[in-house]
Amino acid sequence: MAYFNYRFFLITLVALAPVLLSVRLGKDNLAPSLSGQARVLYPGSDEFANASVRWSAAKSPAYSLIVKVATEADVQKTILYANQKGKSFLAVSGGHGTTSQIANAKGGIGIHLGRMNNISIVDDGEAALIEGGVQNGDLVSYLWARGKQTATTGCDCVGYIAPILGGGHGWLRGRYGLAADQLLSARLVLANGTVVEASEVENPDLFWALRGAGHNFGVVTQAKLRIYDVPPSERQWTASGFVFKEDKLEALFEVANEVLDDPERPAELTYYFVFAFNREVDAEQPIITLWVYYPSTRIPEKFDEQLRALIPVAVETSTTDLAGVNAHLLANKDGPACAEGLSRKLTPISLQHYPIPSIRRSFEIFANMPAALHDSVMFLENYPNDRVLEIDANSTAFPNRIGKILASPLMTYAPNASLDAVADGIIDDIRDALVKGSGSNLVAYINYAKGDESLEAVYGYEPWRLEKLRRLKKEFDPFGRFNFFAPIV
Ligand SMILES: Cc1cc2nc3c(=O)[nH]c(=O)nc-3n(C[C@H](O)[C@H](O)[C@H](O)COP(=O)(O)OP(=O)(O)OC[C@H]3O[C@@H](n4cnc5c(N)ncnc54)[C@H](O)[C@@H]3O)c2cc1C
Ligand SMILES: *[C@@H]1O[C@H](CO)[C@@H](O)[C@H](O)[C@H]1NC(C)=O
Ligand SMILES: *[C@@H]1O[C@H](CO)[C@@H](O)[C@H](O)[C@H]1NC(C)=O
Ligand SMILES: *[C@@H]1O[C@H](CO)[C@@H](O)[C@H](O)[C@H]1NC(C)=O
Ligand SMILES: *[C@@H]1O[C@H](CO)[C@@H](O)[C@H](O)[C@H]1NC(C)=O
Ligand SMILES: *[C@@H]1O[C@H](CO)[C@@H](O)[C@H](O)[C@H]1NC(C)=O
Repeated sequence: MAYFNYRFFLITLVALAPVLLSVRLGKDNLAPSLSGQARVLYPGSDEFANASVRWSAAKSPAYSLIVKVATEADVQKTILYANQKGKSFLAVSGGHGTTSQIANAKGGIGIHLGRMNNISIVDDGEAALIEGGVQNGDLVSYLWARGKQTATTGCDCVGYIAPILGGGHGWLRGRYGLAADQLLSARLVLANGTVVEASEVENPDLFWALRGAGHNFGVVTQAKLRIYDVPPSERQWTASGFVFKEDKLEALFEVANEVLDDPERPAELTYYFVFAFNREVDAEQPIITLWVYYPSTRIPEKFDEQLRALIPVAVETSTTDLAGVNAHLLANKDGPACAEGLSRKLTPISLQHYPIPSIRRSFEIFANMPAALHDSVMFLENYPNDRVLEIDANSTAFPNRIGKILASPLMTYAPNASLDAVADGIIDDIRDALVKGSGSNLVAYINYAKGDESLEAVYGYEPWRLEKLRRLKKEFDPFGRFNFFAPIV
């Protein structure tokens, strides 16, 4: 060591400093290139752990890095960085996607869009510009405060863009159509980092694909949506919950079947069935609550009387504004339906009518679940379809404009791997029962998809749809980088 030359050592050190530094930063030289508002998070920190939590713990991606992006350029740079490092990436807005394929994004980069949450009204009040990470509840409130509304969904904490990518149903579907039907244009970052615009005039095929199969093509950084004035008579909504014990199941769904075909039914009258355990009402069996929602201070008399005639155990009625409707479903941001980190298992079945014996069978399967799953629910959502049907079925990738009812068992339980298979078994059995009763093939709403459905079930059985989607997938995502949500293969 006598020959050790400190001066030489120091000079070498200084000369090598940039190299050493860049080696140290090798995996994270991304951060300095991003906007000042962006954050790069690494495993081991609290912030990383928090940002990894999803609505459902049952199927989770595991990231090596999370980037909270703040600008479109941040999204581009993150994707280019992922490409350079050979890592996968996954956009996250509300974190509610439950398809099992999400869990295949292992070791990749989580692109968190929560900081891209700007909303503004443009085009003389006829459109809104929203950024890629806007949440549904924020959009509802922003618009409502300005006397506006659009086709928004039933849950405040869910993103708004991701539902559009798969269709998007909600309160005013009967009048305005799907959330996707409101889309006028979108900007997206493709798998190679290029930004493109999609609309009826720019990349019209991509625009077609975005509205129904949109998780496959890029990260949407901005969207322009149609918005509407809230009529003065619609500043208040009524939510009426008709509570029944299971002995009324058949009679209740007979009425519900009549309502489906009733020409007097207003396009805004929503029926929303929930099966759930409620020991105070029934100590043994789950109960059935039919929520009826309508944008007025009361629901139309005929439809109210029809249900009262079945002698419900209770009727709970309240009036609220549109934002309050979601709070009413416990799906406001602090509500239990938004609670993150529980395990959830969901599977969708589209129906054209209520197949009563199969619904009875589903109810029995639900009633016989192990007690550990008793926080679960089953939904049968029936938003009117009037406007959805007026729009040319071929004009968007959303394949199921005729679907009237969306049935979906939703298992909820404290994370416990030994219950995952049990929960899967229950939702599979309910799905089998309902598909048999429906008399047709499984049609599965992509935004509720479990992950084991055929491509036809989510993208449609008409061969031209998958052919067109496959062609577009080759063109815009040739290496299958956007393959974690019903990938087109
Ligand atoms: C409690 C609850 C209530 C719901 N209510 C409704 C409802 O009323 N109506 C309805 O239609 N659906 C509803 N859904 C389903 C909902 O549409 C899907 O769960 C949707 O995927 C959630 O979007 P997210 O942004 O919250 O989830 P995320 O998991 O963040 O995103 C879902 C998928 O979309 C991708 N993605 C997210 N943002 C972007 C973007 N900006 N650009 C490109 N890709 C993106 C993600 O990478 C992921 O693959 C509900 C779901 C839950 C859990
Ligand atoms: C992480 O989440 C917990 C619980 O919500 C919170 O108390 C904590 O402050 C969060 N930590 C960071 C760094 O965000
Ligand atoms: C939000 O978007 C509008 C329209 O593009 C823009 O004028 C405004 O500056 C943006 N606000 C923020 C905080 O970025
Ligand atoms: C939709 O497009 C397909 C394939 O091009 C065609 O066969 C079908 O007739 C079209 N339907 C309508 C309603 O235009
Ligand atoms: C997981 O679920 C099983 C089956 O219900 C139960 O026996 C076990 O105690 C649960 N484990 C935990 C940690 O709760
Ligand atoms: C990125 O992909 C798009 C669609 O495939 C293509 O049009 C564009 O030329 C590509 N850009 C670069 C820089 O490769």
